Amino acid sequence: MTPTHGADMPPKTKLGILISGRGSNMKAIYHAIQEGDMHASIAVVISDNPQSEGLDWAKNEGLQTYAIGRESYAKKSAFETAICEKLQSHQVQWVVLAGYMRLVGKTLLSPYHNRMVNIHPSLLPAFPGLHAQAQALRYGVKVSGCSVHFVDASMDGGPIIAQEAVHVLPDDTEESLSHRILAVEHRLLPTVLKVICSPPVFSPSS
Ligand code: GRF
Repeated sequence: MTPTHGADMPPKTKLGILISGRGSNMKAIYHAIQEGDMHASIAVVISDNPQSEGLDWAKNEGLQTYAIGRESYAKKSAFETAICEKLQSHQVQWVVLAGYMRLVGKTLLSPYHNRMVNIHPSLLPAFPGLHAQAQALRYGVKVSGCSVHFVDASMDGGPIIAQEAVHVLPDDTEESLSHRILAVEHRLLPTVLKVICSPPVFSPSS
């Protein structure tokens, strides 16, 4: 076995990022790549919401972006086929759902099975779905957090890759808890992606 470095370095992993709104997790990935310690590139950013703030930001950064609105397609499968075509045309290897607010159907899932991850603002399997932070407050848990998991056909139900806990404070509101969890999300998602995208340290000698 010989160390892999220099000219032997495999190409960067091409990420496709799906968003619906603000895009702060996408920005965290972008900054981690800029800092040079993630062996990846953002091949494309796709939003199902043409008004997405994150999409404007990505465009301004010179990233390849597309708005693909669900309302332009009669069927979910046609909508997801349009997304897949963009992912495939940019040779995406891993798909990251970074605030993509739709349940992924089999058209989009099949080509990226086990190569699609999602970030969710709770300690799954607790509080899947929308408003996870409000659900946590309503339930009265004293600890919540965030999870990165593989995507399957269920709502936030695929195998968990990593989690980090955040204390729920007595005077927390949905906003304050979301804010503290989000700061942790911005660290956890890039940490997982760094591992996923890291090239092997050793390659077989020739
Ligand atoms: C995050 O809290 C993420 O966990 C959830 O949606 C939110 C997206 O935020 N899935 P942003 O668009 O990344 O700022």
